[in-house]
Amino acid sequence: MILVIGGTGTTGRIVAATLAERGHPTRIASRRPSPGGFRFDWYDPATHPEALGGVRAIYAIPPVGEVDPAPIMLPFLDRARSAGVRRVVLLSSSAIGPAEHGLGLVHARLGELFPEWAVLRPSWFMENFVSEQPHAVSARDHGEIVSATGAGRVGFVDPADIAEVAVRALTDPTSHNIDHVITGPEALSYDEIAAVLSEVSGRSVKHRAVDAAELAARHSANGVPPDFAHFLASLDTEIGAGAEDRTTSTVADVTGRPPRSFRDFCRDRLRGDSASA
Ligand SMILES: NC(=O)c1ccc[n+]([C@@H]2O[C@H](COP(=O)([O-])OP(=O)(O)OC[C@H]3O[C@@H](n4cnc5c(N)ncnc54)[C@H](OP(=O)(O)O)[C@@H]3O)[C@@H](O)[C@H]2O)c1
Repeated sequence: MILVIGGTGTTGRIVAATLAERGHPTRIASRRPSPGGFRFDWYDPATHPEALGGVRAIYAIPPVGEVDPAPIMLPFLDRARSAGVRRVVLLSSSAIGPAEHGLGLVHARLGELFPEWAVLRPSWFMENFVSEQPHAVSARDHGEIVSATGAGRVGFVDPADIAEVAVRALTDPTSHNIDHVITGPEALSYDEIAAVLSEVSGRSVKHRAVDAAELAARHSANGVPPDFAHFLASLDTEIGAGAEDRTTSTVADVTGRPPRSFRDFCRDRLRGDSASA
């Protein structure tokens, strides 16, 4: 049994569906489970023991919006080890390495806790620009995407590529026992992203560059808790300084196929949007 925590989210739902297609018994866990899913809340330990029954491996999406997830995640992972879980694949971020605090601390402890593990460190998701994500809504309603990244570039990645790496890390006979920095095929600035969105959707989309304080205020106005809003804005500042201007060969190395480009991702995902606009 493979437990997919956050199995209704952006990568989790693709991971769960792919595992099931390939014949792996899968338990989909989240706070508001879909039919057949399992109720699990990182913040409610009463939901934890049952989720672990018969589980061999876990795909772990951290509690979303939590600046310091370690005190919430580590007791659960201790319990998982005691319950016989052998392998854990943690979804982290390219912006977070192993560290003494925050999600980096969970990353740093994973190999001590479990004989089999992997940490996925994807760059920013292409998904942020489609469906009801804030950039997508802003592009659709106001013809702009807003960032504090300046001219900085990001190796945006398709969540389906992240999910395929996750599935391999969960099911390959030999555990990866490594952290994977996962990017798409090219690093793009937000100006370049806006140009592709305009081209594919047929509607003008511009990038408006703001400073980190203004961006944090925008996030807060959209309901993001203040400390997390500042954390997100600080990541944009780091992008502006070049922190995400890179590509890796992880997707091709692990899955045997190249990662999808942003243009191809948009052609697939925005076709329906522009038809219904
Ligand atoms: N977006 C990006 O560009 C980006 C880039 C790099 C890394 N990441 C990382 O990706 C991770 C997930 O992002 P996402 O966009 O996939 O999120 P998402 O689509 O919102 O999915 C989150 C999933 O976790 C579940 N969940 C949320 N809070 C939970 C809780 N307290 N207990 C149990 N389940 C909970 C949600 O379902 P319920 O709401 O029903 O519980 C959902 O299934 C984050 O850790 C983020 O740092 C994102």
